[in-house]
Amino acid sequence: MGQQEYHIKNESVREERDPLPDPGRIAGPLLTWYDKKRRILPWREHPEPYHVWLSEIMLQQTRVEAVRPYYARFLQELPDIRSLAEVEEDRLLKLWEGLGYYNRARNMKKAAQKIVLEYDGRMPETYEELLKLPGIGSYTAGAVASIAFGQAVPAVDGNVLRILSRIRLDGRDISDTKVKKAVEDELAEGMPKERPGDFNQAMMELGATVCIPNGAPKCDECPCSGLCRAKQEGRIMEFPRKTPKKQRGMEEKTILVILDENKIALHKRADTGLLAGMYELPSMEGKQSKERVIEYIKRLGLSPLRIVKLAPSKHIFTHKEWHMTGYAVRVDELEQTSPDGGLFFATPHEIEERCPIPSAFAAYTDFVEIKRRSFPGRSARDTQTEE
Ligand code: ADE
Repeated sequence: MGQQEYHIKNESVREERDPLPDPGRIAGPLLTWYDKKRRILPWREHPEPYHVWLSEIMLQQTRVEAVRPYYARFLQELPDIRSLAEVEEDRLLKLWEGLGYYNRARNMKKAAQKIVLEYDGRMPETYEELLKLPGIGSYTAGAVASIAFGQAVPAVDGNVLRILSRIRLDGRDISDTKVKKAVEDELAEGMPKERPGDFNQAMMELGATVCIPNGAPKCDECPCSGLCRAKQEGRIMEFPRKTPKKQRGMEEKTILVILDENKIALHKRADTGLLAGMYELPSMEGKQSKERVIEYIKRLGLSPLRIVKLAPSKHIFTHKEWHMTGYAVRVDELEQTSPDGGLFFATPHEIEERCPIPSAFAAYTDFVEIKRRSFPGRSARDTQTEE
């Protein structure tokens, strides 16, 4: 067993881990399993580079099943890299609406512009060149280079880190970027030269369906259980080791659905920061009473006619939570006034067509029957951030 001493927060920790079994030994049973069990996915059957790239970026946010409709709609509207390079930002964000991490979409557009300028619209083919594009980190570069171009490079995400930590009783903290880099280097050395793209996808597939992140893995179905030290020692649930996440900050907000007979008031968020450039319902800081809301609406120069309290709702971002109260306020003829506060007015149809609204507001946009593009029960995969 390879033993090494290292330090976490001044504590000396004895690290245990086996050397990585030759990836060639993992590859045999893994690929046999993959050939039988893999899911048929649109970007898998014809791994066109643009399609693989798009699917990998979308899959950093959520599960395969949730990605399918987004992927299809995105490609219908932006069928190639040139169309992505030219798309208007609101349109792009509308196509991403509900997926979250909107900078990923913006970075894809920036990368597409670079590909048009520097590579005549064709995706560069090597790991090293892919890595130079905005929003493409080691995982995405590895996935595209191996799946679309057959380059023998690893694509290490949370799934791969989890599987390998179990196979070789690796006690290193997988939330440490240095550990991820070390595993990438270790895996790169022995990457199978045959079918590297399938090897990487088989690892991801195993992580998504068998060696799962939450709850007990299905070791009976695992092609690697014969190689797995954590399984042999009955210690599967001890791996992977990760630093617990910091507690999220909590913000109270009061969301306002201000409407007249036809239109709803909206606000465009600043170009930087959380949910940059997205559209939102107007809001007040804190948990406000009806009276305070009415005062605020009057201060905006609007005339409230009726007010109704809406159900509370909560939205969890990576680093913070919004705890929201809502009010629907019927006002007199929005379009004849021009209130302060940077508001503008649009019909539900105009909003559906043109204004990307983050999922955080879903409980309140539903009230006015604005259909956002979203999927039920968004559940994050093991993400890694590359921006
Ligand atoms: N998760 C991320 N990329 C994937 C892929 N190509 N196949 C299955 N799951 C994935």
